[in-house]
Amino acid sequence: MARLGVNIDHIATLRQARGSHEPDPLAAAILAEQAGADGIVVHLREDRRHIQDRDLRLLRQILQTKLDMEMAPVDEMVKIALDVRPDMVTLVPERREEKTTEGGLDVLAHRDRLQSVISLLRDGGIVVSLFIEPDLEVVKAAHKLGAHYIELHTGHYANARRASEEAAAVDAIHQAAKFAAKLDIGVNAGHGLTYRNVRRLVAMKEIVEFNIGHSIVARAVQVGIERAVKEMKELVK
Ligand code: PXP
Repeated sequence: MARLGVNIDHIATLRQARGSHEPDPLAAAILAEQAGADGIVVHLREDRRHIQDRDLRLLRQILQTKLDMEMAPVDEMVKIALDVRPDMVTLVPERREEKTTEGGLDVLAHRDRLQSVISLLRDGGIVVSLFIEPDLEVVKAAHKLGAHYIELHTGHYANARRASEEAAAVDAIHQAAKFAAKLDIGVNAGHGLTYRNVRRLVAMKEIVEFNIGHSIVARAVQVGIERAVKEMKELVK
């Protein structure tokens, strides 16, 4: 049975839209854990567009499960990670203009940088995962760099429009997952997963954890709006 990591970045996105205190990602994290989440994932972006440093530090204190910090492989973030000590760091590429992470790390082009960041984090006792494309060469490179885990980018699968495109994306993910498992690297998967498209991937026994954010936050709004309106209607009537 795979584990579920719940990414709560977009709870913070909503809070930052008003610069207020609600909704609070810490409260969401506690509720997610109570509902069965096996871990909480947050991306501390360099531009701090959603999760703030304070959120990360408080999450470290209150979580009962596992804190997975997504971050770019840059000095500022390494320093924060070594100070906060999340259970896991997932290294991701980051571009300021992007709406969300757009693809896996270019492991081959940034080998030296990644090697030094991975060593620092590993020496600090942090489990390190690399967010990569489902490509055998990249899996091999991640293994050589000493990553404990990889997270396979499922965005191409999620965005596939034609059945043939989707089948090819599923096959790439499965081949990469099987290869990584053979190399004894843990396999996570995420990005763009929904209540509908996750089903095909759940069948892959090699994937030990799914990291899902946007779809869960979107559904929370959908299933919660009726009660929220009823409560306010009670107050104003
Ligand atoms: N995994 C990684 C590495 C990500 O960057 C993200 C987005 O922050 C996710 C998983 C979750 O993606 P989504 O919000 O589309 O479920």
